[in-house]
Amino acid sequence: MTDSAVTSILFVCLGNICRSPLAEGVFIHLANRAEVDVRVDSAGTGSWHVGERPDSRALAVARAHGVELPGHARRVGASDMSDFDYVIAMDRSNLAHLAALRRSSHGSARLHLLREFDSEAGRNKDVPDPYYGGRRGFEECFRIVERSCRGLLESLNHPPAHAPSGESPR
Ligand code: 4NP
Repeated sequence: MTDSAVTSILFVCLGNICRSPLAEGVFIHLANRAEVDVRVDSAGTGSWHVGERPDSRALAVARAHGVELPGHARRVGASDMSDFDYVIAMDRSNLAHLAALRRSSHGSARLHLLREFDSEAGRNKDVPDPYYGGRRGFEECFRIVERSCRGLLESLNHPPAHAPSGESPR
């Protein structure tokens, strides 16, 4: 965990061009509106798209909702496991990758699935990957990400009373 008083969050998916940039942009948007100071970034477990801007369909759906997507794709690394307070995975495959990276790097970041914070999630807590689908998939992805980011922001403002501070859930 970092020393900074500002909470830091890294959103992670596979390519870092669809889901995690959406989560990054939406979370920044919501935090700014709520005047909550946070440091937010996103990354991918794969390296195919490193250096690229988000997918044009992700940019379009975000823009339609008044959300900007900053940044270029990068790959998640060992130092992220100590540089961020929270590392938030889009699906269980991302989470397994991150858990291994945290273990091998002795990192302290708290790992979660984004949909743990989705009030409407069922048993399946994956954010579906919209990359091989059409525009509707990106709309659905945006709605899931937005609902989950609202829940995440709320949970940062109101941490559970029974959780000792500094204790890592994973
Ligand atoms: P993301 O979507 O993980 O939400 O950014 C994908 C983007 C690219 C690929 C897969 C998923 N790809 O195979 O290139």
